[in-house]
Amino acid sequence: MKRAVIIGTGSALPARVLTNAELEGMVETSDEWITARTGIKTRRIAGAGEKTSQLAAAAARRALALAGLTPEELDLILVGTITADMTMPSCACLVQKELGAVRAFAFDLNAACSGFLYALDVADKYIRSDPDLKIMVIGAETLSSRVDWHDRNTCVLFGDGAGACVVTGAESNGNHQRGYLAAKLYADGSLWELLHLEGAPGHNPDLPGAALTAHPSIRMYGREVFRHAVRAMADAVGKVLADQGITPAQLSLVIPHQANIRIIRSLAEHLALPLEKVYVNVDKYGNTSAATIPIALDEANRQGRLAAGDLLLLCAFGGGFTWGASLIRW
Ligand code: COA
Repeated sequence: MKRAVIIGTGSALPARVLTNAELEGMVETSDEWITARTGIKTRRIAGAGEKTSQLAAAAARRALALAGLTPEELDLILVGTITADMTMPSCACLVQKELGAVRAFAFDLNAACSGFLYALDVADKYIRSDPDLKIMVIGAETLSSRVDWHDRNTCVLFGDGAGACVVTGAESNGNHQRGYLAAKLYADGSLWELLHLEGAPGHNPDLPGAALTAHPSIRMYGREVFRHAVRAMADAVGKVLADQGITPAQLSLVIPHQANIRIIRSLAEHLALPLEKVYVNVDKYGNTSAATIPIALDEANRQGRLAAGDLLLLCAFGGGFTWGASLIRW
């Protein structure tokens, strides 16, 4: 039986590095506080030529190169994002144009920080219906454009970037059932207010949206989000492992959503996994929402941290709330 496998990864980050020291001059904060409470030291901030679609396309080109495919061979482009260049067309359509992926259909998916996990799961479902499809799955964000730079509760946390992977169907690898094994995905819209980003103002005065502020930015009740994130991710991970009859000790690498080093450490403790088995780059890039997991996946792949047969666990939590975990045999 053919399963969805990742045959190439790529990532792209803006050139501009914003340090904690610079933030000290923008809001009442300190390198010490940010480092101790979040683990973040720097984040990347998009500039000219680094719109979400452009970062996404750059990451996709690198993934195509590793996969040994041309853009024309792609059948579908899926982008997980909450910061598309515009509401319409989708970021995925702009990536299709940038790449010249003329055969591909394309659409965006909004699951906030869980966007890449949700998109990967959608790709898996398409591959089940046609294993020959070549699908580009991307997580891409420019959160710097949606952050309130006067709000110290949020502006120190987020960054910009994109990660991508090419997915297609492939046969098992010897004894191993290679590829995308399973996922558990969840949502709870009743808690939306704890972490949200309002849309652009509406122009119909009869609609409630007309009263929204002109420049909506991310609003977050950090402590509450933290509490839910730890519990929800641990629960999703537990369920997907139990479902597949796998113990945490069998995992080769865990790539969690990169929001806060303390959330990542709690998860590692919960799984009784040494931190060496947990990929961390939140110190360099902060929280890039849907892009954190595919950026980390690309780094891990290029560092040779994934060998054939390895069990890889991905898990995420984000606005919605949305969360989940997926299990892949490399
Ligand atoms: N610099 C200095 N002080 C800050 C600060 C900053 N950048 N941001 C907040 N503070 C202050 C708060 O105002 C608060 O002060 P008060 O007690 O006088 O009101 C104090 O620090 C402690 O706030 P608290 O919310 O308890 O801190 P915390 O330990 O929970 O850490 C977060 C705050 C935001 C880092 C943490 O809650 C977090 O990471 N939450 C999850 C965020 C997340 O993952 N979001 C996305 C999910 S995908």
